[in-house]
Amino acid sequence: MSTSALLFAVKRSKLPLPPGPRKLPIVGNLFDVPETLQWETYARWSKEYNSSIIHLDLAGKSMIVINSRDAAESLLEKRSSIYSDREDFPMVNDLTGWDFVFGDEWRIQRRLFEQSFSVNASSKLEPQQCLASGDLLKWMLSDPEDCIEHFKQMTGEFVMSLAYGIDVQPSNDPYVTLAHDAIGTLGIAAIPGRYLVDSFPILKHVPSWFPGAGFKWQAHEWRKLARGMMELPFAETKRQMELGIARSSFTSDNLDVLKDADAGQAFFQERHVVSTAGTMYVGATHTTVSTLATFILAMLASPEAQKKAQLEIDAVTGGEALPTFQDRDSLPYISAIVKEVLRWKNAAPFAVPHRLTVEDEYLGYRLPAGSIVIGNAWALLHDESVYPDPHAFKPERFLLSGQLNPAIPDPEAAFGFGRRMCPGRHAATSSIWIAVAYMLATFDIQKAVDSDGQIIEPTYEYVSGLVNTPVPFKCSIKPRSPQAIALIRASGSQ
Ligand code: HEM
Repeated sequence: MSTSALLFAVKRSKLPLPPGPRKLPIVGNLFDVPETLQWETYARWSKEYNSSIIHLDLAGKSMIVINSRDAAESLLEKRSSIYSDREDFPMVNDLTGWDFVFGDEWRIQRRLFEQSFSVNASSKLEPQQCLASGDLLKWMLSDPEDCIEHFKQMTGEFVMSLAYGIDVQPSNDPYVTLAHDAIGTLGIAAIPGRYLVDSFPILKHVPSWFPGAGFKWQAHEWRKLARGMMELPFAETKRQMELGIARSSFTSDNLDVLKDADAGQAFFQERHVVSTAGTMYVGATHTTVSTLATFILAMLASPEAQKKAQLEIDAVTGGEALPTFQDRDSLPYISAIVKEVLRWKNAAPFAVPHRLTVEDEYLGYRLPAGSIVIGNAWALLHDESVYPDPHAFKPERFLLSGQLNPAIPDPEAAFGFGRRMCPGRHAATSSIWIAVAYMLATFDIQKAVDSDGQIIEPTYEYVSGLVNTPVPFKCSIKPRSPQAIALIRASGSQ
């Protein structure tokens, strides 16, 4: 190292860490991390310490939380070459077997994804998205009580078809159930500070029977789900390919490429197809289900928004057809509802944690190499200087004179940051847009009433995790008219 570089390094390492709560010896802030709603606590600390970035010490593991748009842009976007790794959490990667999602091969996975989910490639998915939303309407008509289950089924159907070309069963499909159970466990395992083994990796060698080693037994059970959700549908697609009955899908198309490519010519191998298809499922399902469930809650919170949206759709379709993707420009209020749903109670409040690979400096603070870096998407999407009255559901905030207002930032942080930003965001936004437009065209969504005729107020509570999902709630979903019933019956694939 040259003398000037050495002097610079010494100077840098003397810079203070960003502010944060007082650190105890050894455990640091491990016990300051709340069990739930961490993002709200981090946003509050950011205000209390008057700093857009805060620092925590999780028993020796440095963690930085970014709470403003400026800081997220400067670090996660502009310096994304050093802010884009994932943390190697022993609980997630070694013990529960999720290394296929959080491992080192993410660059190859993203190249494979981007081929399938660029804006252009995503628009090819529209016919499939319309069919999936049509099926959703039918299930909601026949069983209006259980819309969250229908959202799971719809998303499962869409992703299984896209990733593996597998048709799922109309209910209780084993692949969809397995994937949902598996991803549910990931949501718990992947929260920074939740498991001591992430701060003290040596604990992963403790035997399962050892007092306090319940996490090992739990990880053992969870691992079966994680590996099963990745391996079983892939094996089924391969079996169908051998029989010559496989449909075109992400998996079969890419395996065909490998078969045709001369050895070593393709930039990926079979194991990348397996892990990318599995990651696709993980990325797509809980997030989309949570966002659609939030849409229903939003309609309960704001009957006025629902009425305006229905009037807008009726003016375009005359109530005689379902809206289509071609109507998008004529339905700005629907687009504003989708943006507001993504913002209001964003599904992944702190996206997925990133990792800083080399030491960095920001606003006079030292950001240590190896830090876990959390982009607090919730804080950015509830910043009152950008979105006034941020806790209210107000699609109008995205509109000016009845059209989408380009001056109001899109809720992009809902899809994460920089090079790790969700590669499925275009597909996700259009899936949600068409499902929302179909539901509003055909159903009235209202608060449920109990046997005494009293309105049941939803709690608007969420189960906290990497992906937040609404606690099951009651609502009343009724077709808007006999004409709407006829439209529902004529839609979908089944
Ligand atoms: C409303 C629906 C969705 C939301 C809110 C959402 C949100 C996110 C977020 C916050 C991340 C982490 C970004 C980061 O690390 O900064 C992510 C990653 C990812 N998402 Fe999505 N997502 C959605 C739908 C989808 C869909 C439909 C797909 C695929 C078809 C998908 C595939 C992925 C993948 C593969 C990753 C991992 C990317 C990586 O690690 O580099 N997502 N998503």
